[in-house]
Amino acid sequence: MTTATQPSPQSILVLGAGELGLPVLRNLARVAKRVPGSKISVLLRDSTINTDASEKKLEIDELKGLGIHMIPADLVNDSIDQLAEIFARFDTVIGCAGMVAGRETPMKLATAALKSGVRRYFPWQFGVDFEVIGRGSPQDLFDAQLDVRELLRAQDKTEWVIISTGMFTSFLFEPVFEVVDFENDTVNALGGLDNSVTLTTPDDIGKLTAEIVFFEPRFRNEIVYLSGDTVQYGEVAGILERVLGRPFKRNVWTVPQLLDELQKDPTHHIKKYRAVFAQGRGVSWPKAETFNEQQSIPVTTAEQWAKANLPGRK
Ligand SMILES: NC(=O)c1ccc[n+]([C@@H]2O[C@H](COP(=O)([O-])OP(=O)(O)OC[C@H]3O[C@@H](n4cnc5c(N)ncnc54)[C@H](OP(=O)(O)O)[C@@H]3O)[C@@H](O)[C@H]2O)c1
Repeated sequence: MTTATQPSPQSILVLGAGELGLPVLRNLARVAKRVPGSKISVLLRDSTINTDASEKKLEIDELKGLGIHMIPADLVNDSIDQLAEIFARFDTVIGCAGMVAGRETPMKLATAALKSGVRRYFPWQFGVDFEVIGRGSPQDLFDAQLDVRELLRAQDKTEWVIISTGMFTSFLFEPVFEVVDFENDTVNALGGLDNSVTLTTPDDIGKLTAEIVFFEPRFRNEIVYLSGDTVQYGEVAGILERVLGRPFKRNVWTVPQLLDELQKDPTHHIKKYRAVFAQGRGVSWPKAETFNEQQSIPVTTAEQWAKANLPGRK
């Protein structure tokens, strides 16, 4: 008789409860009900846990209502040793705090995770395929993520899992990204109309992360790929035309053009992202190879997201 498919209870700590952390926590709380003995906690600053700001307070109350425990700590001001002491009380730590204090934080948290001896660590790497992109890319923050991967791969005490999600779906349509120019009804394709980008919504990332955390056989020391959709920029124009019912022009911003713009404005974060996405390496993967597709878990496509969020957009 085999019992290998029965998930084991876990005590899980999620770092942060923002755009990504909230859906991860909501879904962990839901999936944990299938695994009696599991316990979910969130690490937040004391000032956030005890906030008077009404919107934030609603979220904190929601999390408490889901049975999630509040762990007060500060990822920036607390030392590696202090954080390691906290992480040591859990089986699993999941980084969802973003780049809270710039490029040093991912390494600080990974170091604390290894020092704590936690059994499994999910670093905050919900993004692109940093190894395929490689070091020295236009987005220098990616090098900090590669440092973390090297640190995790160089040891065998703490298991690690990286969840590659591509870009958050909404970001593709953000006016500040300028890929979709709603004022001029134009899609500015990064690198070419047939260049692709993988997109996943934070809600789907939350749903799939919770499944991955409890999945048996257990994921260890590997990268798990997700994709809500993998689309070419030319297809994005088609999606906008169907959803908004008006024509969209197709324009191409070439790699040399985007690198030149970055050179003139080298600290501009969005320009770094545009250039690295235009190069077209490590920023998309076929949906067929993803965890969601292999497990037949439904996810939101770019067109579904656009239908739900864009109508009325001038
Ligand atoms: N693939 C992608 O496209 C991708 C991936 C990840 C992130 N992003 C983007 O990056 C942004 C960040 O998203 P996110 O969910 O990672 O971060 P976020 O929404 O900024 O949330 C950060 C969380 O960390 C907490 N935090 C901040 N500083 C802290 C500290 N010193 N100690 C403890 N907790 C602290 C925040 O709490 P407070 O409420 O106290 O501030 C918040 O709960 C988003 O706007 C998203 O669009 C994009």
